[in-house]
Amino acid sequence: MTQQKPPGRLQKAPENFLGQDLIQEITTQGLNEQRRSFLRRSFAATLGTAAGLASSKAMAADVFEGDPAILNLPEYSRTLGLPVATSPYGQPSKYEKNLQRRESPGLTRVGAASVSFCPLQGMFGIITANGLHFERHHQGWHDIDPQQHRLMVNGLVSNPSVFTMDDIMRLPSVSRMHFIECGANTGMEWGNVAVPTVQYTHGMLSCCEFTGVPLSTILDACGIDRKRARFILAEGADGSSMTRTISLERAMDDVMVAYGMNGEMLRPENGYPLRLVVPGVQGVSWVKWLRRIEVGDMPYATKDETVHYIDLMPDGTHRQYTSIQECKSVITTPSGGQQLIDKGYFNISGIAWSGRGKVKRVDVSVDGGKNWRTARLETPVLSKCLTRFNIDWVWNGGAAILQSRAIDETGYVQPQMRQLREVRGAKSIYHNNAIQSWQVAETGEVGNVHVS
Ligand code: MTE
Repeated sequence: MTQQKPPGRLQKAPENFLGQDLIQEITTQGLNEQRRSFLRRSFAATLGTAAGLASSKAMAADVFEGDPAILNLPEYSRTLGLPVATSPYGQPSKYEKNLQRRESPGLTRVGAASVSFCPLQGMFGIITANGLHFERHHQGWHDIDPQQHRLMVNGLVSNPSVFTMDDIMRLPSVSRMHFIECGANTGMEWGNVAVPTVQYTHGMLSCCEFTGVPLSTILDACGIDRKRARFILAEGADGSSMTRTISLERAMDDVMVAYGMNGEMLRPENGYPLRLVVPGVQGVSWVKWLRRIEVGDMPYATKDETVHYIDLMPDGTHRQYTSIQECKSVITTPSGGQQLIDKGYFNISGIAWSGRGKVKRVDVSVDGGKNWRTARLETPVLSKCLTRFNIDWVWNGGAAILQSRAIDETGYVQPQMRQLREVRGAKSIYHNNAIQSWQVAETGEVGNVHVS
């Protein structure tokens, strides 16, 4: 495998790290020719700066003179459309069917596939559509009958209880918007693997409005022993025996036993009928198909926190219980695999988030980190939730490197990969929140690069 080193600070990933077949597959499936040309069209027609406005006016005139799509009245303007409820549960347009969650071609499958990535490149705002939420299962998923499902609370409580779904759903509920990110998100970049698209670099990330009962309400109802209790253990009903320790302080703060997701019940693959929502904390603690909560006085040191989801540090020790997802951001458009059609105006758009609270600022660079400008944060800016940012850019047709750098309300600044490696070494898999770089070539092709 040859390592290309173009001039300057750029270090491009080996061309053939995935193999030409896979690259071809990504081009034809993952990036969707239809979406590429949509990008071309919409980018070319964008307004916003004097130059952009002038060129789009000229283009609008051309379109009016020659485009049959605007001159001829289409069939659908002259005929009766479909009746209501043709699709009792609404589906996206057939023209959007390439917008899918996908398995990464760069990951080795062991038995059944266990990760599907969210297509961040095709999404707007901050909310993930339920059908596009990423999935991570350790032992597959089941569609559990809510009538049969139970939640047991035991351990250091005076009133150990078993709840039915009806019991849970009559309790006081809250609805809150939060991101969920797998601790392994962006993991392949640790190994100098420049994964080609934002779907595969950052797609183990989603954001929803969750509805459920505060865990504190349930623990109080069960008579938690506040003097002795220090931790809880959450256990899932699937065959993976997924169990995670959560500190009592966090459990009594904003953790939620959730059944709702974006206004409807959870999807089966996301934990239906009950999952834990642990805002700001890595996805593995968001135990799905939640069936038991035990209250205890020390961490449980289960397999999913001692052997898995640990960080190998440069001195050879393992760091356990790295819970918080630190401040991070990524540009979703333009991003790897997309194509700029022409010089001129583009809206650079992306998302930022922090497990410690709100995003305070996002800076964007188009020259690989030499100069930075502050982006517009779209509202709402919520705690432990995705924040959408946008910034104007006039592309001069030359090579460019696009980066975003988020800062959260604690003042923490998203690090460069080099800074992260100084602390964490090179052998990690989890918790990569480094600045992502997208290289724009003179041809307009956008690709993933590692900037040292
Ligand atoms: N809970 C159970 N019971 N079983 C699992 O395999 N996977 C965990 C967590 N909760 C898992 C689980 C991991 S590793 C992640 S990242 C999130 O669920 C993924 O949630 P999602 O599939 O809804 O995106």
